[in-house]
Amino acid sequence: MRIVLLGAPGSGKGTQAKTLMAEKNIPQISTGDMLRAAVSAGSCFGLQAKSTIDAGNLVSDDIMLGVISERLGQPDAQDGFILDGFPRTEQQAFDLSDLLDQLDQPLDAAVLMDVGFDILMKRLTGRRTCSLTGKLLNIYYSSQAELDECLDAGGELIHRLDDNEEVIENRLAVYRRKTEPLVDYFRSRGKLVTVDADGTIDEVYDRFRKVLGMDVGSD
Ligand code: AP5
Ligand code: MG
Repeated sequence: MRIVLLGAPGSGKGTQAKTLMAEKNIPQISTGDMLRAAVSAGSCFGLQAKSTIDAGNLVSDDIMLGVISERLGQPDAQDGFILDGFPRTEQQAFDLSDLLDQLDQPLDAAVLMDVGFDILMKRLTGRRTCSLTGKLLNIYYSSQAELDECLDAGGELIHRLDDNEEVIENRLAVYRRKTEPLVDYFRSRGKLVTVDADGTIDEVYDRFRKVLGMDVGSD
């Protein structure tokens, strides 16, 4: 399975990708996670990208093409992948199409995680990531038991620097301007499927499986 997850910040791309990755045994390729890892590692490229990410703007298409070309060439991506957060501009979509043509790995679908903008702010301001497991949690939606599981194991609940209201507003505006046009791009190529991403995490995953033709009991 080779899919792209499309959707606004906070629509649940990372949350659903992690579950799908575990079920299908294919990698989640999150460009946001890769960029944050480069920032944490203090690499030259990470330091250059940091101010862009912190402000909620997009890293340049050229840099992202390099990042994704390298990643899709890795052995674990040869049997499928879940692209989470790439492409995000029309140029990135063209670049991905060329790259997948070269690799002879056609895309199966682009899944739009469809959720009203009013819900996103609460999801994003409440998001925390467990420092030990990388699990995505939320101070408004996760149970106390889930939050405690991380803390009791000695982990911390990390609050992303770009998850504050001002930067979130900009990320949503950037999404509308630069990424939303990709909905029509994929639709016109017959690749778009849409998931109603408003509901519990489990409900959304069930819908996700259905649109991808993963009926209960099959793989
Ligand atoms: P990135 O990390 O991709 O951020 P994003 O697109 O803004 O998306 P998020 O990760 O914020 O949201 P998500 O949809 O994954 O939601 P999640 O599952 O976590 O990118 C960050 C930055 O990196 C960009 O701003 C840019 O600077 C740069 N970048 C990355 N890719 C780039 C590219 N291709 N080109 C250029 N620059 C790039 O869920 C959010 C919260 O909601 C969590 O707390 C979760 O627990 C909760 N939640 C999820 N689903 C539900 C549900 N159904 N019910 C209740 N709560 C839920
Ligand atoms: Mg994410």
